[in-house]
Amino acid sequence: MSKIAKTAPGKIILFGEHAVVYGQPAIAVPVTQVQAKAIVSPDIHADPGSIRIEAPQIELKSPLADLAIDDALALAVTLTLKYLEITRPPAFKLKVTSTIPLAAGLGSGAAVSVSVIRAVSEFLGQVLDNETVNTLAYEVEKLHHGTPSGIDNTVVTYAQPVYFVRGQTMETFAVSRDFTIVIGDTGVFSPTSSTVGDVRSGWEASQEKYDLLFENIGTLSQKARPAIEQGETEVLGELMNANHAHLVKMGVSCPELDSLVQVARDAGALGAKLSGGGRGGNMITLVRPDDADAMARTLTEAGATNTIITRVGT
Ligand code: MEV
Repeated sequence: MSKIAKTAPGKIILFGEHAVVYGQPAIAVPVTQVQAKAIVSPDIHADPGSIRIEAPQIELKSPLADLAIDDALALAVTLTLKYLEITRPPAFKLKVTSTIPLAAGLGSGAAVSVSVIRAVSEFLGQVLDNETVNTLAYEVEKLHHGTPSGIDNTVVTYAQPVYFVRGQTMETFAVSRDFTIVIGDTGVFSPTSSTVGDVRSGWEASQEKYDLLFENIGTLSQKARPAIEQGETEVLGELMNANHAHLVKMGVSCPELDSLVQVARDAGALGAKLSGGGRGGNMITLVRPDDADAMARTLTEAGATNTIITRVGT
């Protein structure tokens, strides 16, 4: 059995985060400049059934058997073995690395799961189709936060722009004119599970207010899709600004995100908003292609700890 390496990209949500958990449509695109990588290699000196996992960035080096059953990496491996109906695989080592910042809204958890599921299954002689990989990765996402919509694992698995409604078949769509997004990281660590939990508590306390916010955001996603398909970049920017305003009202922004969003708008962005779970992590801004480098510099000067320029196309 030979060594297998698999990668999976990061992602950004253009429209509809949080509202998507409550059944509203959302739009997300892959970000290929960052990625998770899983390498599976045979462990020739170990007995069959032995699996050792290494993830240097989180200082993890452990036999699978010693990891908690709800550890995300362990779960990605055990779910894959269970799906393949393999109880005693040939001994292997799994090494996971990632250039996707953790807890920053860029889909690092989903990308790690997808790369691990693909690498482990292929090492064991089976290439799983996207649908199966997506289903297994969704099971792991449930561990990250109890009520995931499934958008993160879907966009990362298919590595294409997606128009996503929870519980429905994923739709992809054409981007008639490429557009450019600059991603700015606040550097504030913010696990999706906590913002998703807070939105849930907010919704339980004032359902009418939250339902209206979710519906309004869903309407923005519905309008954004034809704007993307028809290349109406300016409309898209306005929709992003409106989406950010609703997320502020939902309580998932923070001073660092609001400040970078304002800086981007003041510097001539077509639109800007937080992306992902919020309360930290990344914001995104839509710019004319020629303005991307200057925008990245402006965001850095304003305190962004990292910037990524990404072009969205089909
Ligand atoms: C996280 O990338 C997106 C959220 O809408 C959560 C989810 O959809 O599961 C905040």
